Amino acid sequence: MDSQAHPELTSTKLTSTELASTETSSTIVERDAADDDLANRGAKPEADAPRATSNRSTTPSSSTFADYISSNWADREETLPAPRESAAFAATRRARISAQYPGKRLIVPAGAAKVRSNDTDYPYRAHSAFAHLTGWGADSEPGAVLVLEPTGEGHEATLYFRERAGRDSDEFYANPEIGEFWIGPRPSLAQVESDLGLATEHLSAFQEVLASCDTDTVVVRDADPDTTRALDERRRRSASPATGDDPVREADDALARDLSELRLVKDEWEIQQMRLAVDATARGFDDVIADRPAIVAHPRGERLVEGTFNRRARADGNTVGYDTIAASGPHACILHWTRNDGAVREGDLILLDAGIELESYYTADITRTLPVSGTFTPVQRRVYEAVLDAADAAFAIVRPGIRFREIHAEAMRVIAERTAEWGLLPVSAEESLEADKQYHRRYMVHGTSHHLGMDVHDCAKARRELYLDGRLEEGMVFTIEPGLYFQPDDLSVPEEYRGIGVRIEDDILVTAGGAENLSVGIPRTADDVEAWMRNAG
Ligand code: GLY
Ligand code: MN
Repeated sequence: MDSQAHPELTSTKLTSTELASTETSSTIVERDAADDDLANRGAKPEADAPRATSNRSTTPSSSTFADYISSNWADREETLPAPRESAAFAATRRARISAQYPGKRLIVPAGAAKVRSNDTDYPYRAHSAFAHLTGWGADSEPGAVLVLEPTGEGHEATLYFRERAGRDSDEFYANPEIGEFWIGPRPSLAQVESDLGLATEHLSAFQEVLASCDTDTVVVRDADPDTTRALDERRRRSASPATGDDPVREADDALARDLSELRLVKDEWEIQQMRLAVDATARGFDDVIADRPAIVAHPRGERLVEGTFNRRARADGNTVGYDTIAASGPHACILHWTRNDGAVREGDLILLDAGIELESYYTADITRTLPVSGTFTPVQRRVYEAVLDAADAAFAIVRPGIRFREIHAEAMRVIAERTAEWGLLPVSAEESLEADKQYHRRYMVHGTSHHLGMDVHDCAKARRELYLDGRLEEGMVFTIEPGLYFQPDDLSVPEEYRGIGVRIEDDILVTAGGAENLSVGIPRTADDVEAWMRNAG
């Protein structure tokens, strides 16, 4: 990492108090000491402070050096971008949530970077609710906060973030977390304002917002624990004497639910992003198939599968939307096998469950199960075609107006029928499908569908009556992913089935007249899969 490669550099920092005094002095209002403490925590002063220890922290601190490095830089050209395409859609989403919360201040943090270990972070990922309401995705600034301030008619949106520092501060050369010398160019307030079509303010001004919060403020609680803690304290202080319940907490939970439900139906721009995510993912699957010889030759071929797919994700998208599942042989029976340290052997199946997330954060979620040798054995093909029939039957009923849960029921009907036909169930398919029996579920313990979007399991906080029990609407996107998994040590099935795991997963868009399988271009039938493998050489 660069910071360790340059142990001679040290850092000094502007605390948030200093930031506030140098950059927002005109907006500072009188506060008591507790408010200062609260505001400082909310603005995460520790994020201003590089996490350098004395061992790696030796940047020259003399004023001679500071003067020298701060001078003789060319003026920056401040070009203001045209609003990005998603800006208008994000504005519509903000208007919809605004209409649900008259008179309430809504706080939607992007969240801070998360520590991986010591002084290294995971790649930054803003909270999905923040990205949805701002249109800011992979290029979001860590620590940014969207505030919807109630006005007479609705809300005024302001995006607070840490604008890049000028060359007259030491941030740009001495701060490994945010300095432009270290992490590259960062935007100005004016650039982001123009890009996202949103009013912007420096993050230090968010302290004033925090300090004036009361019980009419609602926050996305899981986006940034520091902000939530600071707000809870502030709201507790402004609340009338405590009653038995916790109205502030209830309001926060309702906001999380409503923001989740706001994403159930995708707008035109989101649908286009989903198509692009699926296309990129299709290229990743092609890459893996083309790499078959190297994958089979390597003792940890599953790692090569992951590496090849993830390389495409970085090349064509932001990253993967979730950890790639590269599960060969009996590993295919482990639903979320992400250790991916096994061999990929001729004669086995390999289950690849993977999705590319774009810079906008929209992700695909696709599974194909492939015969490593290029040809299914008869029993592998039998299992594969049963799963495909379940997927096709489920897809066939998708149209606006049916209940989400019917998709799963339809897939399970086929799974029960096939496993009964093969003599695997102690009862008939019909009896197994009774709610209190469900023997066939031994071989598919997971659900058939989940909503898909910015999160692989999108809209997770939506109410059951709008999700599982809800009716499909045009513009919804979800997976259909039945499977059959016969564990290697499952004595309830004949030996020939043991160790076979198959899942087929597609990304489905509900249209006005029915449905579109967005991932239908990735081979699905057993014959097409075999041809795909053959043609890759
Ligand atoms: N693709 C992983 C999952 O849906 O859980
Ligand atoms: Mn899935």
